Amino acid sequence: MIDHPDFIAGLPKAELHLHIEGSLEPELMMALAQRNRITTPFATVEEVRAAYNFSRLQDFLDIYYAGADVLRTEQDFHDLALAYFDRAAEDGVVHAEIFFDPQTHTDRGIPFQVVADGLLAGMAAAQARHGLTAQLILCFLRHLDEDAAFTTLKAAEPWLDRITGVGLDSSEIGHPPEKFARVFAAAGDMGLKRVAHAGEEGPPDYVWQALDLLDIDRLDHGNRALEDPILTARLAREGMTLTVCPLSNLKLCVVPDMAAHPIDRMLKVGLRATINSDDPAYFGGYIADNYRAAATGRDLSLADLTLLARNSFLGSFLPLDAVSMHLARLDAYVDAA
Ligand code: HPA
Ligand code: ZN
Repeated sequence: MIDHPDFIAGLPKAELHLHIEGSLEPELMMALAQRNRITTPFATVEEVRAAYNFSRLQDFLDIYYAGADVLRTEQDFHDLALAYFDRAAEDGVVHAEIFFDPQTHTDRGIPFQVVADGLLAGMAAAQARHGLTAQLILCFLRHLDEDAAFTTLKAAEPWLDRITGVGLDSSEIGHPPEKFARVFAAAGDMGLKRVAHAGEEGPPDYVWQALDLLDIDRLDHGNRALEDPILTARLAREGMTLTVCPLSNLKLCVVPDMAAHPIDRMLKVGLRATINSDDPAYFGGYIADNYRAAATGRDLSLADLTLLARNSFLGSFLPLDAVSMHLARLDAYVDAA
């Protein structure tokens, strides 16, 4: 039997909850600031890292949107994405479905085209370099209004053949899913998948709304769904995938410590839970760190870890033949371990 840490890094897995802007490491942030001749409030990488102390989601969001200001050119978005894929490949990621927040960029005058083409170029480079496949999920910022979301969907039209789905992120409390019911319906009519952050800080009712009003294909976070047994049973019955992010939950005080994380409880009640990194540059770890933290904090077995990786492929938006191929490779890896 090999140790958990080695087993985890080599375990083939998909990452389904990753904000590409949240993978901007302080080193790259400073390098891009210099390249684009932008002054930042921070003099050193250490000063940037020292600012990453959060007690709730909004503390993080304020600093995350400020950091994204260094992203200006197609090359910047390419470099950001490729840096993430290089790091993810080291952690056994063979497929990633990444979020991007176009409004964070278009609202400061960066054209949608610069963002989308830069990220797509990074994805093509990752496929060539690592054989890692990737898909894009366009997230609407929920603290902005419905009109702004429709404008963003319209701006995305020329790229819709290269965008898999839409998502919903940013400040959850006070911005319920119902606010975006019509824009999600329009996205569905365009053939896009639908995912939404719900039940991270928001109540179980927001998860009900995401299911009933947004018709989601996948639930991002979903921790607070566990407070409602009827909702939990429905999620299990429908085989809904939850994209859970342990280190994010810890850093944003969704859980007091890793020993209190519900990841194993989710598996036990039959939820299709997965482990992901959310915003790894801000929360202190990439996907394998998240698997390790959960494994240590909740004493997960190799069978639990294997199930989490298996769920990541089952919950992906890959075609069925690709899912089967990844599951066969996963089984071969586990058999050889
Ligand atoms: N929650 C909501 N919005 C976000 C997150 C998150 O965890 N990360 C980036 N935007
Ligand atoms: Zn997230």
